[in-house]
Amino acid sequence: MTRAAVGRARISASILDADLGNLANAVRRVDKAGTDRVHLDVMDGHFVPNLTFGPKTIKHLRRRTELPFDAHLMISEPGRYIEEYLDAGCDSVTIHVEIEEPIEPTLRAIKAAGRAAGLSLRPGTPIAALEPYAPLLDIVMIMTVEPGFGGQTFMREVLEAKAAPARALLAHKLFGGEVHVDGGVNRETAETVGTLGIDVLVVGSALFLKGRDMGREIRLIRTLADEGFQYALNDGVPPTPPDRMTAFASLPKHLAQRLTDAIEAVGVPVVMLRGDGQINPDGVRDYELLVPVVSEAAIVERFASMRESLLLEAATWRTMVVAPPAAE
Ligand code: DX5
Ligand code: ZN
Repeated sequence: MTRAAVGRARISASILDADLGNLANAVRRVDKAGTDRVHLDVMDGHFVPNLTFGPKTIKHLRRRTELPFDAHLMISEPGRYIEEYLDAGCDSVTIHVEIEEPIEPTLRAIKAAGRAAGLSLRPGTPIAALEPYAPLLDIVMIMTVEPGFGGQTFMREVLEAKAAPARALLAHKLFGGEVHVDGGVNRETAETVGTLGIDVLVVGSALFLKGRDMGREIRLIRTLADEGFQYALNDGVPPTPPDRMTAFASLPKHLAQRLTDAIEAVGVPVVMLRGDGQINPDGVRDYELLVPVVSEAAIVERFASMRESLLLEAATWRTMVVAPPAAE
């Protein structure tokens, strides 16, 4: 279940600093508080000097919420366990580019399971290290702290250096490519994160601070990030929620389906609705095609000519369709 997006920035709540003796309750709390997703920090005590939980725990937590699970695997051998994380119900799985194990097979396994595949990098790792894997990426997760612990200080200069190249690595995605920031995100740093166009903000310790209203903290961080985006990257215009849709074409059903198939083949979701416009000679109204506002420019660039030729084909088709016999 994806919550209706309010604004552009999405919050992925990390439960690393929650009461590890009661993770089910932590998941319920962040869900009730309005997070968009849950960020699951898996640590093996080898890739990072900390040990948390694995796929069995995640499988049990899966029953506690319908929110998307973003698995952040800070482990040396993700390939060895990837099927267990997929089986546990993770919606996205992000592994680290610094591992010695082959990376591509694991990314392919994640995508083959229909989940989002991501790569994360330590603050000291250059973003260029991800380039060989770019075509397989849905997520780039920029660490703004040394992975291993919550509650560390945000490294602004790291995000400033990597935000734009991370976006460029996802240029092949017409829809759904996400840049995540992980580490030290809170009400003091959220606006900066927004000014750099980050899509998903991982927030951990800031949500579990004593005396803080978690719901208010999530709304505050989301609003500050959106304001940062609004004034730094969007000419002062409030950002569009990623799931906002807009009309792209109106066509007879069989032609609408053909265009829908072509657009969905490049990874962009399309909503096809029976419209209330023109009634065709076959007695059926045209169908409306809705596409995400955030992908509209790319869709127009790639599919405007196909749309035009289908509109011409529709006009010809309408002259040839024999109207069904009038009901007796
Ligand atoms: C650190 C983890 C982060 C951490 C974030 O290695 O990957 O997800 O939990 O916590 P804060 O927001 O406290 O930095
Ligand atoms: Zn994390």
